[in-house]
Order: sequence, then structure tokens, then C-alpha cells
Amino acid sequence: MSDKILIKGGKKLKGEIPISGAKNAALKLACASLLTEEQLTLTNSPNTLRDMKSLFDLLQHIGADVVVKGKTVSLTAAKIKDDTAPYDLVRKMRASIMVLGPLLARHHKARVSLPGGCAIGTRPVDFHIEGLRTLGAKIVLEDGYINAKASKGLVGGEYTFPRVSHTGTENVMMAATLAKGVTVLRNAAKEPEVVDLADCLRAMGAKIKGDGTDTITITGVAKLKAAKHSVMPDRIETGTFMIAVGLTGGELLLKNTTLAHQSALVALLKQAGISIEQKGKNVLVKGKGGHSLQGVDVMTEAYPGFPTDMQAQFMTMLSVANGAGMVTETIFENRFMHVPELCRMGAKITVHGSSAIIRGVDKLKGAEVMATDLRASVALVLAGLVAEGETVVNRIYHLERGYEDLVGKLSACGAAISRL
Ligand code: EPZ
Repeated sequence: MSDKILIKGGKKLKGEIPISGAKNAALKLACASLLTEEQLTLTNSPNTLRDMKSLFDLLQHIGADVVVKGKTVSLTAAKIKDDTAPYDLVRKMRASIMVLGPLLARHHKARVSLPGGCAIGTRPVDFHIEGLRTLGAKIVLEDGYINAKASKGLVGGEYTFPRVSHTGTENVMMAATLAKGVTVLRNAAKEPEVVDLADCLRAMGAKIKGDGTDTITITGVAKLKAAKHSVMPDRIETGTFMIAVGLTGGELLLKNTTLAHQSALVALLKQAGISIEQKGKNVLVKGKGGHSLQGVDVMTEAYPGFPTDMQAQFMTMLSVANGAGMVTETIFENRFMHVPELCRMGAKITVHGSSAIIRGVDKLKGAEVMATDLRASVALVLAGLVAEGETVVNRIYHLERGYEDLVGKLSACGAAISRL
């Protein structure tokens, strides 16, 4: 399949979009299967995502049996065959680092390639390593690999994260479920995906309290058992489609999703002029088009603040809103790569360090643009939906890492979008 998308701007969106299971929950939930010899079944799992397929390859390499049936995946790591997560698998998908904690806890040994940085930042994993050392792991970094051992198993400990880390919290929390004794994690991440993972671990028999707050207490158990867990809906996909219909005008019913984890984002989108309401298990969003939106200021923060994963999409919205808006990115050091591409479409954006001023323009002009990372790519697709003329987005493999069938979901609601 080609890796370009063609979009003809100006179409309103009207219809229903099924929201997929959350990528940033499913990736960790799949790694939790390594904590037990028994079967873990995940439903509502976004199995067609490139990142999920990469992770399934890695889990099979380690020794798990992975069976995908539609949105359900069953994972059984009866035996650990190979406790190395090799560079060529890890470099494709940074979240592979999430096998480190479970492998150490269950198998007492792991050799995981350092994930390396990515387009949006250096993405260090020092908190993951320090947290696991607190649980008694002996960890040596050598030849680009994390060599970790806990020959007598992990032991509960107390660790305060120097800075809130979403996957750092999850990696150490998973490891602690099988450690001897009690583990207390302070300055822990509060993302809903952390709570979703804790719910699944509890279903497997883990003893976890305080997930969703900044202090999580885990009491280790000897073994975890089989469980079935439904992956929470993807709040970033949900937010992305809210902005899409805010920009194009129209009405979307987002199926099987919730506003529960979206208060910071929803408050700002409503302030900008988009109407959003929960309708049972669905979310109804109505927009009057980009020209009707008001510019607002936003600063990304760890949950429950405004999510950094919505920053690029929000900037696209501001680029055609009335007035100006300021975007400050506080989480990652290089997450403005969508800016030059949006400027090529006529957006008026100036960047000063980690802040950008966006002055709304009447309209964007379609152009050939380049995707650089997952959320920047979708921000360019949103710009294409509302730009005058045609937009071609290149390197859309970035998109397929995090959005299931984006072209299908949008064209089913009236967008003129297709793969080239
Ligand atoms: C998770 O990344 C998500 N990825 C990211 O989503 C998301 O943007 C991010 O959380 C923030 O919400 C997954 O869940 C797979 P962090 P993560 O650890 O865990 C620094 C997407 O688009 N830090 O919370 O890697 C780090 O550099 C992706 O879906 C350390 O210094 O983010 C960053 O500045 C992008 N040392 C800050 O903390 C560490 O050991 C927050 O990072 C870990 C992190």
C-alpha cells in the first residue's frame, strides 16, 4: 500500500465513528501477559495498529502464544523462551521497554535494548531503571542494552519518580505485582491508562491500591492468573475526531467512548466553540466550522492536565480559529515538527522555545506535506480536511502506528480522503 494520503478539503463531517481501544493502554496490557503462565484475553483491542503488531512480534519472540481474532487477542506466555528484546524489534516501537518490568518480575532476568529517542524527544528511560533497581534488580547498561537480573526475585521497595512518567509508573507497577512485600510508588502518573492496567492486573490477582492518584501501593503475590479485560476507549482518538468536526463543521457520533478522562481537553474545546456531550455510551460532537472557532491558550501537562498527545491537533484547530492562541509544550522537547508543515499550508505560527503563537487565518491552502511523528501526522490530516484544495500527506506509516483505519472512518462520514 502507498504511504500517501490525498485529501480534498471543505467537506463537512456527518455520521458515526467507532472509537478503537486505547493504543497507550493496549500496549502495556499485552505486556502484562508475561507476568503469568496463564492466558490473558484482551477485548476491544486495537489489533490492526502497527505498534500492536510490532509488540505481538516481540512477545512471540519472547515466547508468548498470541492469537488475534478481530478486536480480541489472547496471549499465553506459558514459558519464556528468549528473555532478550532485540534492537531491531525495540527500535521500531519504543513501548517495547514495557516488557522489562514483567520479564524481570516473572523470569528474574531480562535483556532489553535501550529504545533510543524518537522524533519528539530523547525519551530517556532512567526512571524505569531506577524504579526497578529500588525493587532489587541489578541493572547494567552495556552495548546499548539494559541487562537486568533479580536472581532471587524482586523485593518490594519505595520509589519516588523525580518527574511524572506514564510508562515509568506502569513498568515498575507491573514488576511490583510479583515482588516480595509491599511497594510504594510516589509522584506516580495518574493517566487513565495506568488505572486501566491496574484494573487488569487486579483481575489477574494483583493487589494494587491508589492507581489514579500520585501514590500507588502494590502488595506482591506469588503468582498471577488468567483474566479477561476490555481495553479502555482511546481518549486521544476521541479528542482528534472532536477537533476534526469542529474544523469542518457538521456532527459526529463517536461510538463506545467517554468524556470521563477528557475534562481538560473538553473544557478548552467548548471554550473554542465546539459542542460536546456524552450520550449514553457515545459522545455527540457538533461544529460550525473553523471560522466559527475562538482562539484559546493551552499548556500541555501530565494527566489530568491537557494531554501532550492532543497538542498538534489543537494547533491545527487554532490555525483557522478567530483571534490568536498560545500553545506551550511542557512534556517533550521537540514536539513542534508539525509547525513548518502547517505554515506551508498558510498557517501563521511563530515559535519561541517551548511556546508557539498561532494567529488564526481565514483559510489554509492544500499542499504536499510530510508527516514526522504520530500526532503531527494526524494534525496534518485535520488541516487537509479544512484546507482549500488538495493536500497530500506523505509518510503516513506514522499514522498507522496509532490510528485504526483513519481514512475509512473519515470517508464514511463524508470526508474526501483516500490513500494514493
Ligand atoms: C507516554 O509516553 C505515551 N506513550 C506518550 O504517547 C505520551 O505522550 C506520554 O506518555 C505523556 O502522556 C505510551 O504510553 C506508549 P513519560 P512516556 O514517561 O511514558 C521524561 C503517543 O503519541 N522521562 O510520561 O514515554 C520524558 O522525557 C505517545 O501516543 C524521563 O526523563 O512519557 C518526558 O519529558 C507519544 N525519564 C517526561 O518525562 C524516564 O525514565 C514524560 O514522559 C521517563 C520519562
